[in-house]
Amino acid sequence: MVAYKSKVVERIRLPSRDRRERALAEAGYNVFDLDAEDVFVDLLTDSGTGAMSDAQWAALLRGDESYAGSRSFAELESAVRDVMGFERVVPTHQGRGAENVLYGTLLEEGDVALNNTHFDTTRAHVANQGADPVDCPVEGAHDLESDEPFKGNFSLERARSVVDEVGTERVPLVILTVTNNSTAGQPVSVENTRRVRAFADEIDATFVVDACRFAENAGFVRRREDEFAGADVDEIAREQLGYADAIVMSGKKDGLANAGGFVATDDETLFERCKQRAILYEGFPTYGGMSGRDIAAMATGLREAVDAAYVADRLDGVRAFADVLEEAGVPIYTPPGGHAVYLDAGAALPHLSADEFPGQALVCELYREGGVRGVELGSFAFPDTDRPELVRLAVPRRTYHAEHFEHVAETAATVLEKREAVDGLEITSEPENRELRHFTASLEPNPS
Ligand code: F0G
Repeated sequence: MVAYKSKVVERIRLPSRDRRERALAEAGYNVFDLDAEDVFVDLLTDSGTGAMSDAQWAALLRGDESYAGSRSFAELESAVRDVMGFERVVPTHQGRGAENVLYGTLLEEGDVALNNTHFDTTRAHVANQGADPVDCPVEGAHDLESDEPFKGNFSLERARSVVDEVGTERVPLVILTVTNNSTAGQPVSVENTRRVRAFADEIDATFVVDACRFAENAGFVRRREDEFAGADVDEIAREQLGYADAIVMSGKKDGLANAGGFVATDDETLFERCKQRAILYEGFPTYGGMSGRDIAAMATGLREAVDAAYVADRLDGVRAFADVLEEAGVPIYTPPGGHAVYLDAGAALPHLSADEFPGQALVCELYREGGVRGVELGSFAFPDTDRPELVRLAVPRRTYHAEHFEHVAETAATVLEKREAVDGLEITSEPENRELRHFTASLEPNPS
């Protein structure tokens, strides 16, 4: 059941084919370098790109811009307490600011951090402390077809084998990312969360939940985990987050805001340490790099994110997008995640080998054919790994409609009809740090 109608609209245009060809070449076949005006349906990310509600726009006007003691910050504290169950909040400009504050407090050189799968900024912040980010996805996480309900779970077996190897004293931090963005947006069960909590206790580590998409995850738990059938989304969210010592949050996802983030915890000592570090990197502890109006919009968004109708609309919308893609014969990762549909570029363009970047070639063709922008998450974004060749089509919240998704599916089907003619790509320049190369590298077609 649709839960929204539009009150404000934004004009979008499909540029001519000539213009798209030129824009792609000028961008060095890297869609991060396109002008957004040249994009028709923008599925690059679900981060900060959603539509705010009328209540959020109203909250913006009421934002309190006081440097210290802002009323908007008090509203955020109260929303975090009610929705997520934590008493203490350290605001930051966005999720990676929260990562810097928390992981900079918890990690030292030589440490190991375990995570179901590190998102790229998480990995970079752990590495920035001189620590080693180790992924512990469950077996089957990269199985694109199995209908396991919780492919985002954390593998205790893998984590134990890492601890056996390096020793408990080197592992002060265990992170659980819900939903698991780097594993196709797959959810994590509450049962798995409890087991990770027990494991963290066993090795005396701090347990952090990356809660960016906590509401979508709670929606999946409600649908797929028997114990929670029919439970309220906010109750599930508080239960799941409540196992953590602290959470990191990007308000640009399930805060339904265009900016913002925070760390939240009940641990007084950790809170004080985070607060001191946040003053250095983010700002005074009642604004943390955000304007008062952004804080107010995020506080309102957090409450809306656990509204049962919103979450159902969100999960059903992404599911419906996956369905039209499948009906059009486009190979995808199933079941779809909570914030995105991931295309299987390896199956879509089987004539291209990993070093011809089939995912990036598919991303370019989707733009060339239909002005659609997605993002490659395969051998271009993750060099020297054996991850599947995925292309993420992220769905901004409350933004696009069925017609947009049909356009994307038709575009993808047309690309597949002409797949033999799709050339691979080669990199012409890349930054020194290859781990983040997909944001800025340039490529060119490599007709073989
Ligand atoms: N953690 C996860 C799981 C994320 O997906 C992101 C951002 C962050 C942390 C960092 O938050 O962007 O507010 O600094 N993911 C976006 C994406 C960028 O497109 O998936 P941020």
